[in-house]
Amino acid sequence: MSALPTPKPRWPLRLARRAVSPALFDFWATRFNPLWTLEQPLARLVSRTSASRDAVTLVLRPNAHWAGIRAGQHVSVGVTIGGRRLIRSYSPTVLDDGNLAITVKAIPGGVVSQHLVRDARIGEVVSLDAAFGDMTLDEADAPLLLLAAGSGITPMRALLRDLAAQGMPGNVDLFYWARHHDEFCFTGELKALAAAHPRLRVHFLATREGDAPAARVDAMSFDTVTALHERRAVACGPAGFVEAARSRLRGTVARFDAEAFSLPAPTAVDEAGDVEVYLTRSGRTLTLSRNQSLLEGLEAQGVRPAHGCRMGICNSCACERQSGTTRHLLTGDRSSEPSTQVRLCVSAPGTDLILDL
Ligand code: FES
Repeated sequence: MSALPTPKPRWPLRLARRAVSPALFDFWATRFNPLWTLEQPLARLVSRTSASRDAVTLVLRPNAHWAGIRAGQHVSVGVTIGGRRLIRSYSPTVLDDGNLAITVKAIPGGVVSQHLVRDARIGEVVSLDAAFGDMTLDEADAPLLLLAAGSGITPMRALLRDLAAQGMPGNVDLFYWARHHDEFCFTGELKALAAAHPRLRVHFLATREGDAPAARVDAMSFDTVTALHERRAVACGPAGFVEAARSRLRGTVARFDAEAFSLPAPTAVDEAGDVEVYLTRSGRTLTLSRNQSLLEGLEAQGVRPAHGCRMGICNSCACERQSGTTRHLLTGDRSSEPSTQVRLCVSAPGTDLILDL
């Protein structure tokens, strides 16, 4: 699988680590070269090409601290916009030269996506965090049924490139949905892969095109897929798509895995009102709503906790809840165990809280 080797620190870096703090080293070193840091993985934007009507593919060249990624995983990319560092997660493809290609769709109102699609300049430097995500494959996984909607195609592209590099060890069917034909990304590349590998079949499905729009995943027959019951299905797309795919394929495939890049609708909330949240490190007490994630509530009050995916996947927003009760926004489960890690992006306060933040 396509993981890059973990870089070993060279002796000047080992020496520097003993002599100065990473922040001080980075402050001065980046004045000479914006990619020189002591530990922080950074990447420089080296090219931008149109991927579809409303998406671009950006190629990023990482510095020596980038530890690599497996096909299908995600990485949190940090950009500075208006003096604020904002982080969003993308699923990159590792190119032959080690550069990372991320495809970004401009989301209406999306500050980061609009910046990356329209404003980011060649040479701009972004930060990278460690890769995360479990949507990876091993050889035992063939045959496969890959389901993608919208931006969910980006991890599938990485998986297919990886499988192609292995000679496509088993049958793979990719079903790829978009509303219109001009919203499909990587059409040339996907068709070329299918032409080169007879075991791969790619199905482009435009649901709002022409007189005979394609069926959505919940109405898809999949009767052209051989040995459906032996397949491992992997779905990626908006939460509603992933849940529809899960329902459609329940009991018909050998295994179903999925990742959604938006949160499903939160569970119904039967309570309202505010709670007091005490932050031990800053000594601040904030009043937060019970109907909002802790991450959103804290950000609204000017607190900037570390975070990545904002979907409960990467764990980078985890912090210790020293006391109080939180409610998981997706499952509705409540948790009151003291001194427990909670993910701020998918947890809402149920009672007054003390957070190690
Ligand atoms: S930001 Fe990724 S789990 Fe919360």
